[in-house]
Amino acid sequence: MHSREHLILGIESSCDETAAAIVAGGQRILSSVVASQVDIHRKYGGVVPELASREHLQQIVPVVREAVEQAGIALRDVDAIAVTRGPGLIGSLLVGVTYGKVLSLALGKPLVAVNHLEGHVHAVLLEAHAAGRAPDLPAMCLIVSGGHTVLYRVTREAANDAATFSYARIGGTRDDAAGEAYDKVAKMLALGYPGGPVMDRLAAHGNSHAVRFGEPKMRGNPYDFSFSGIKTAVLYYLRRNSQLQPEIETRQRALDRGERSAEALRALSSPATLDLIASFQRAVVDDLVRRTLAAAEEYGTRAVFISGGVAANSELRRSFESAAPLHGREIFFPSRALSTDNAAMIAAAGHARFLAGERADAMLNAEANLPLA
Ligand code: KG4
Ligand code: ZN
Repeated sequence: MHSREHLILGIESSCDETAAAIVAGGQRILSSVVASQVDIHRKYGGVVPELASREHLQQIVPVVREAVEQAGIALRDVDAIAVTRGPGLIGSLLVGVTYGKVLSLALGKPLVAVNHLEGHVHAVLLEAHAAGRAPDLPAMCLIVSGGHTVLYRVTREAANDAATFSYARIGGTRDDAAGEAYDKVAKMLALGYPGGPVMDRLAAHGNSHAVRFGEPKMRGNPYDFSFSGIKTAVLYYLRRNSQLQPEIETRQRALDRGERSAEALRALSSPATLDLIASFQRAVVDDLVRRTLAAAEEYGTRAVFISGGVAANSELRRSFESAAPLHGREIFFPSRALSTDNAAMIAAAGHARFLAGERADAMLNAEANLPLA
C-alpha cells in the first residue's frame, strides 16, 4: 500500500491570510505557515481588499520558501502544487493563482485548483486522521467563518484509489456570516478586530440569559441562517441603554493605544456589557447548533463536521459536544490552528484531486464566487 507518499505544496490567499504548507499523503502536515494581515486591516475594522492583495504580493514568496524549509524538503521534491481558486477576494486570489501557475511552469510540476470551502472540509479530515478517528460518511458539514455560514452534505466518491468528495448545499446564511456578526458587534462595543476571539473570552464572564434575543423568523428552508437581525438587536439595545456609551468610548481609547487584550478590555467592561456579550454568543451558538443538528437528523448523517474561523469558539465547541450524544451524532472539529484559514487544508484537498487525475493549466483563473455545490 505504501509506495512513496505524494508531497503537495498548498497555497492559500483567498482573504487576509497568506499561507503555504507541505502535506504528505494528504494527511501528514510537514509544515504550515500562515502570515496574517490582521495588523494591517485592524485600524479599518475589516479587510480592505486593495491592501490585502498588496500584502499577499509581498508575502507569497517568503511564505512558500518558509513552508518548504520547515518541511525539510526542496521545492523540486513536491509532486504537485495545489492552489485556492475561489471563493474569496478576487485580487487576493489572483496572487496565489498566479504564483501557483508560475511555480508549476518553472518546476514542471502539475497544478491542482482547489475550492477554498472544500479546503475547510479537509481541515476536519486532517484532524480526524491525526486523532485516529475515521468519520462515517456522508457527513453534515457546517462551515462557519467571517465570510461563510453554510451547510453541506459531504459524500465520499470512490474514484479508483482516490477518495474524492461530492457536496450538496443544504442551507446557508441569507445575510451576514456568523463571524461577520461577531466582528460587527465587536465594532459597536469597541472590542477590537477581529471580534470573535475577544468576545469568546469575555462571554465567559457574563450571564447568557440576561438579554433575550428573539430567534430569527424565517420562512422556507429551515436550514438557512440569518444573523443580521441579532446585530441590529444589539444596536437597538445599545441605543436604549445609553449608560453603556461612556465605557464604549473608554474602550475605544484603549484600543487606539494598542491595548486590545481580552484582559485589558474586560477590565473596561461593566457586568451589563459582559451580559450582553454572553447573551449574543449564546443566541448565535444555539442557532448554529440547533439548525446543524436538525439538518444532520433530516439527512441521516451520523458525523457532523464544524470548520472555519468561528469553529474555534469555545462555547460552540462545548454546545456541539454536549448536544451531540443526545442526537446520536459524532462531532468533528479541526484543531484551532486548522479552523482558521491555512494552506494545509488546501494541500489536503488538492491531494485527493491530484490522485483523481485533476489538473489545472496556464488558463486557470481565480473565481471570486466559485460555488462548492
Ligand atoms: O476562517 P477565518 O480565518 O476567515 C474567513 O472569514 O474566511 O475566520 C475569521 C472569522 C472572524 O470573523 C473572527 O471573528 C471569527 O472567525 N472567529 C471567532 C473566533 N475566532 C475567530 N468567532 C467566534 N469565536 C472565536 N473564538
Ligand atoms: Zn476560510
